[in-house]
Amino acid sequence: MAIFSCENNIFVLETKNTQYVLGIDKNGYNRHIHWGRKCPVSDFLSTDIWDENSNHTELDMAKQEYTVFGGTMYRESDLKVQFPDGCREIELEFVDAKIGSNKLTVTFKDKVYSLEIALKYSVNDDDDIITRWAEIKNSGTDTIFIDRMFSAELTLPSVEPYTFKNTNGSWGGEFVETESQLQGGALVFDSKRGTSGHNQSPYFIAHQNATETSGDVYFGTLAYSGNFKVLCSRDLFYTTRISLGLNDHDFKYALKGNETFITPKVFCGYSWGLGEMSRQMNRFAINNVLPKQFNDKILPVLYNSWEATEFDVNCEHQTALAKLASEMGVELFVMDDGWFGERNNDCAGLGDWFVNETKFPNGIDELIKNVNDLGMDFGLWFEPEMVNPDSDLFRKHPEWAYHYDTRTAHTLRHQLVLNMTRKDVRDYIFERMDTMLTDHNIKYIKWDMNRPFSETGAENLEIPQELWYRHTQAVYDIVDRLKEKHPDVAIESCASGGGRSDYGALLHFDQVWTSDNTDSVDRMMIQKWFTYLRPTKVMRAWVTDVNWYNTPTTLDFRFNIAMQGSLGVGGNLTKYSKEDLEIGKRNVALYKEIRHLVQFGDLYRILEAQKDEILFNLYVAEDKSEAVAFIASNGTGFMKKAIPLKFQGLDDDKIYSLTVDGKEYKKSGAYLKNVGIPSTIRGMNYNRIIKIKAE
Ligand code: GLA
Repeated sequence: MAIFSCENNIFVLETKNTQYVLGIDKNGYNRHIHWGRKCPVSDFLSTDIWDENSNHTELDMAKQEYTVFGGTMYRESDLKVQFPDGCREIELEFVDAKIGSNKLTVTFKDKVYSLEIALKYSVNDDDDIITRWAEIKNSGTDTIFIDRMFSAELTLPSVEPYTFKNTNGSWGGEFVETESQLQGGALVFDSKRGTSGHNQSPYFIAHQNATETSGDVYFGTLAYSGNFKVLCSRDLFYTTRISLGLNDHDFKYALKGNETFITPKVFCGYSWGLGEMSRQMNRFAINNVLPKQFNDKILPVLYNSWEATEFDVNCEHQTALAKLASEMGVELFVMDDGWFGERNNDCAGLGDWFVNETKFPNGIDELIKNVNDLGMDFGLWFEPEMVNPDSDLFRKHPEWAYHYDTRTAHTLRHQLVLNMTRKDVRDYIFERMDTMLTDHNIKYIKWDMNRPFSETGAENLEIPQELWYRHTQAVYDIVDRLKEKHPDVAIESCASGGGRSDYGALLHFDQVWTSDNTDSVDRMMIQKWFTYLRPTKVMRAWVTDVNWYNTPTTLDFRFNIAMQGSLGVGGNLTKYSKEDLEIGKRNVALYKEIRHLVQFGDLYRILEAQKDEILFNLYVAEDKSEAVAFIASNGTGFMKKAIPLKFQGLDDDKIYSLTVDGKEYKKSGAYLKNVGIPSTIRGMNYNRIIKIKAE
């Protein structure tokens, strides 16, 4: 909402409901003062920064906005460099602070060397998210080598220990929630795989017994898709801090004279309850993060061919699927893997982005025309960063994959990672994708990435450790260039499912493939964890024929779960009965009536599958004029036989009409919240979708 500067070099950032205060102490150190609920700004006019560090041996105690390596500061630092003469310590002095419209820049410089650090902050009028990052400048001529360069440091207010939510996910089991209480020492969540990955997440969610509806929650997420590090610590003074940034594992960056390095952004906030945190980030992501072409557009219902056909694609079968999909109401038909090179299985073809003429003897336009004639847009799968050793590309350019001449290159899924830090590699990928988009009526790309890096030799780089950062930037750069040239093409981020679904990806891609696990029972949890910090609308969810590990589910049940994100269909429709096709058609039609609420509404997680045996999610329109509830259960204990459905998030004073189990109700929002509607939830495959409308 506003940024105030007090005479005593204290800066107050105000969001809609929260306040964040920092300052400069008399020694010129940057200091953290407050993050949380609002206090009168005037109180900060006369605030002295507690003189914790009057004596430099106590520097460790200072709560800082950005900690540099050096002196008697023994905790983790956010910036560590080596100056040209070998000195590895930084000593900063305050330069100035500039306030722009909802923006603050506080600049420091080293007392001796040509290093400048600008701490950047921005806030918006209508939300509670603060954006932070750092700009590190070499204002001299000699190169400064950087060993660690985080984006931001955040300090939490309580001296009591916090519990940190993060994830311990895997392929097919993304976003599995972990809770770790940090009493002392450090907790690290990171990735060393090249992408943000399936395992730990580039964010922190810190709380003290918070629930969906209560308790202080502090959270922040790093907008970066490569190796990241989230370092949480609690020191001897019981201060809990979090630093987020590029992983310093195998990291080095040569900051040349006159160069400025802009770190990835951190989006952070404070909320009351976990539900409010998700709603804040959902709205913030839609308005401020997602690329502008599609951020405020309803995403179409798509069909994806992967589970139906795998690599066995051809015009006839894809057209048969497309016909059935269009009859179901699908709006976008995506052909997945298998259409290019000698791609008959996952052993060959990656890199050869030319249409396979045996599978498509009349070219791909024949299929695209069939799809367009059925009233649908056409989309195509690529895995641009990869190459199979068994490919024309690799035979011609073996040097294009990361490698060491002395080491055996490990293939995973029979493939190698291309050295995207090379211009010729980037040019080839861009040219291939651009040509496909230019020559054919393609409106959608699924950009996949199916293995972590290994043997990361990059002889083209002076500092090979820069490859991790440069590779990620190269992906963003190609996506941005494709979008600029083809603004009507939407791009999905996939990395063996949800392995690249971080906020860095969300700044460039329009949507995300959530998980290769399309089992609806597993998805009840995967989707809940996904929506903690990520926007619902980017969460692609397909109805497929898969019942991976669980008791078989009905088609209606599977639709119920998939309709809680951006709906897709991925089953082998040519095997569906007439009745099943009708069930699909009915559900797609229903989804089109309520999808504006799912994709743009506020999500209230009222009951959850694992803890409560019942999943009960409510998506409420911003103006609270309507809502849609999803209820699903795969069996409940007898004590859950009858429960009142209590609807949160509605307007207490509005009268809503809804039908539950065939009975019509007209009740106030207050009644629906406090008294609720009686319901009996029993048996396998229980599923209901309830539309709620204000009079
Ligand atoms: C990955 C993706 C799948 C599919 C296959 C194709 O596993 O996550 O959705 O595209 O690759 O090979």
